[in-house]
Amino acid sequence: MDYADFFRGKDILVTGGLGFIGSNLCIKLVELGANVTIVDNMLPRQGGNLFNIEPVKDRVKVNFSDVRNRLSMNYLVKGRDIIFHLAGQVNHVDSMRNPVQDLEINCHGTLVLMEALRHNNRDAIVVYSGTRGEYGSSVKLPVDEDHPTNPKGIYAVTNLAAEKMILVYNNVYNIPAVCLRITNTYGPRHQMMHDEYGVFNWFIRKAMDNDAIPVFGDGMIRRDFLYVEDLVECLLMTVMSKNAAGEVFNVGTGIPVTFRELAEKIVKVTGSGTYRFTDFTKERAEVEPGDYYADITKIKKLVGWSPSTSMEVGIKKTVEFYRQYKKYYWAHDPGTGHEDSVL
Ligand SMILES: NC(=O)c1ccc[n+]([C@@H]2O[C@H](COP(=O)([O-])OP(=O)(O)OC[C@H]3O[C@@H](n4cnc5c(N)ncnc54)[C@H](O)[C@@H]3O)[C@@H](O)[C@H]2O)c1
Repeated sequence: MDYADFFRGKDILVTGGLGFIGSNLCIKLVELGANVTIVDNMLPRQGGNLFNIEPVKDRVKVNFSDVRNRLSMNYLVKGRDIIFHLAGQVNHVDSMRNPVQDLEINCHGTLVLMEALRHNNRDAIVVYSGTRGEYGSSVKLPVDEDHPTNPKGIYAVTNLAAEKMILVYNNVYNIPAVCLRITNTYGPRHQMMHDEYGVFNWFIRKAMDNDAIPVFGDGMIRRDFLYVEDLVECLLMTVMSKNAAGEVFNVGTGIPVTFRELAEKIVKVTGSGTYRFTDFTKERAEVEPGDYYADITKIKKLVGWSPSTSMEVGIKKTVEFYRQYKKYYWAHDPGTGHEDSVL
């Protein structure tokens, strides 16, 4: 079955759908004929941006609410076929400054969603976007799903806890759920206001501004960078797969690239900027896990997904997007990251 046949007419809830990954996913789902509802609280200093859904703004429903809000979530999950749970506190630096907010959004919010499903809709398929950070420092490379999980920062700890909670609902209440551990992802519609998360897109902004890209340390740490269109395809294929429920999958390219190589490539493709080495800040050094690249054998085998976008093409498409729509992304969000309230 192809995508369009599968997704046409499906009722889908995307939490965090105004953010980077969520909006790229929603645009694709609308193109495929799905009925899409977004729930997003526009958390300050994160990627929520109404311009992200400009191409489909008249064809999606947006509910400005919070995944921690029990009454909203009880209502919003009813009748859905699929839930993509992408809402999260994603800022690694904020997660150390304000860890309670991380716990509330990533763990409490996830539990509220799963409880809403338990009471109102056990048939929906849930896909959760966890992070490769759940592994912490790699003890062997590439990292497969059996690698120990020793997360280094609160963001990664709360992602791991959320993943485990979702799997409990899969196992105990038979709510089909798939948990992904996603590597660093880049592409159009990522926030470009600050450098506290989304290093790849930040490097692109520096090059586009004709500045020097700050590369921490000696630039020899290796990472696995995924283009967002490949991730969207992965999210779709995961839902369509009959073998994915109850599983945890790595999502990445499996191709290691050093930060130095990354900066060089971005400067070359962008045609502006340069790069310079700089010391890690204390707050970065504390949560830096070092080298990471994924072993994606499991998802290739069970789901049939593998990425197809080269880094050159991904950078080119990203730069083209921001050249056209810079004014919607370069402005600074006035939020401080500390004004979130407890619900
Ligand atoms: N981008 C990556 O490289 C990457 C890698 C691994 C995992 N992830 C995960 O993917 C998910 C999406 O990340 P992204 O890169 O699109 O980030 P993003 O900041 O662009 O999007 C996150 C969205 O969630 C919303 N949100 C936050 N708290 C919320 C709440 N309590 N209720 C409702 N909405 C809320 C924000 O307003 C924002 O629109 C996150 O869970 C993140 O941890 C991202």
